[in-house]
Amino acid sequence: MAAATNTQMRLVVCPAAELPPGSRRIIEHEGRSIGVFNLGGQLFALKNVCPHKYAPLCEGPLTGLATGDRPGTPALERVGEIVRCPWHGWEFDIRTGRSVFNPHRVRTKSYPAGFECIEPGGGAAGSVETFAVALEDRHVVIYI
Ligand code: FES
Repeated sequence: MAAATNTQMRLVVCPAAELPPGSRRIIEHEGRSIGVFNLGGQLFALKNVCPHKYAPLCEGPLTGLATGDRPGTPALERVGEIVRCPWHGWEFDIRTGRSVFNPHRVRTKSYPAGFECIEPGGGAAGSVETFAVALEDRHVVIYI
């Protein structure tokens, strides 16, 4: 979560009771759209604009990080902490705003035997701006 500074504007999002763990709220303020997420009691805010083609990123489904130590044994970690862009599937870590998956950088490779293998690509697809979030007087507040 980004820290607030003295030059930022304080913006009340909602009463804390209206943003329970696992939920999100999208607010509009002076032409900006910002998604505020409650991840297990911790609050995070992201600019609601995907850096790829400017989709409303924060409206996308929540997922986790796909892991696995060998083929055929997939696992999902940090479930609910990754937001997937609703347009083309880029994924971002809600805690940091950093890209964790860019499907355009994953290639399918053909082999002579006829089977295909998905090759992992880099996750780097830029980052999404984050904002400081606080709980003040039982209200969720962001600093922009
Ligand atoms: S606009 Fe978000 S992945 Fe394309």
